[in-house]
Amino acid sequence: MISLRKFIFHHHNNFLISKEEIYSFFTIIELVVKIIRYHVSLGNTSNFFQKKNTKNIHGENQITLDIIANNNFKDILKTCSNIAGIVSEEEKKIITFQEQEKYGKYIFFIDPVDGSSNADINIPIGTIFSIYPRVSPIGISISEQDFLQPGNQQIMSGYILYGPATILVFTIKSGVHIFTYHPSYETFILSQKNVKFPDTGNIYSINEGNYNSFPKGIKKYLQYCKNQYDQNPISSRYVGSLVADFHRSLLKGGIYLYPNTQSYMYGKLRLMYECNPIAYLAEEASGKATNGDIRILDIIPKFIHQCSPFFSGTASMVEMVKKFILDSQSDSIKN
Ligand code: AHG
Ligand code: MN
Ligand code: MN
Repeated sequence: MISLRKFIFHHHNNFLISKEEIYSFFTIIELVVKIIRYHVSLGNTSNFFQKKNTKNIHGENQITLDIIANNNFKDILKTCSNIAGIVSEEEKKIITFQEQEKYGKYIFFIDPVDGSSNADINIPIGTIFSIYPRVSPIGISISEQDFLQPGNQQIMSGYILYGPATILVFTIKSGVHIFTYHPSYETFILSQKNVKFPDTGNIYSINEGNYNSFPKGIKKYLQYCKNQYDQNPISSRYVGSLVADFHRSLLKGGIYLYPNTQSYMYGKLRLMYECNPIAYLAEEASGKATNGDIRILDIIPKFIHQCSPFFSGTASMVEMVKKFILDSQSDSIKN
């Protein structure tokens, strides 16, 4: 059995940051995850899944767990001397930590609870995180430019999936690794090292209820998937928690799609704390992630809560959907 600590101890030379820094990040993540995991396991015997009257920056109703998870992250990240500031889905503005904003080397992005509308029905939910080195020199207070970096500058990203088991999936460059939380040992144990997408996939994952407002290229791609029925049947699966849908694609092969729609002109998923961390994992596992035009990781963000269309999964499937999008764009230019 290989614990997370032991794994880092043996592999830290492959990673971009020091062993001590990785330990400090995982100490925080493990602590918060234990708290969230505990609340999730109580199900509806607690009132943490109830909708609050408060809304987040995206206009979505928060549940108590969104707020509790966010507050725990904030409180615990504040105690970590190398973290200068954070952005959270549940916070309108950048949060900088007074003691650390001048000397902390790293910044954190978090989606404390992903898929929170699934929580009250006992469907898997997640947590997503992403870490960047600051760009401003040490010694001055960090500013917005430290946060508005493209995803290709991430040094670490990952997610936790609270399913029948709680698992941690992360990359610090050089591969994607999966750990499973063992409640008796109260620690994460290695389940799969250097996981890669299967070369082919036959599952697509999209909220097809929005079909009428999808761009033409996406409609055509979905039609193409259905037309494969005789030769190479493609299944449709959709949980509605990005972490769960992406995780299935990673292990079984498949694609997750969230295009722009009438209600979400720029897509629904958030670039900095949903798309980028997942895209980094996808590429490290030999998959792809695009907004339909360019690599997700190359998008230069304009604001911290920016949204983006998102297509990620098995490389060949992402390439195919991109082709349908481009073809339909050139058709409309011709006509
Ligand atoms: P969050 O709970 O953090 O707001 O994220 C929800 C996101 C994502 O997890 C999921 O894939 C997507 O919203 C589902 O959206 P639809 O309900 O529109 O399909
Ligand atoms: Mn989310
Ligand atoms: Mn969320």
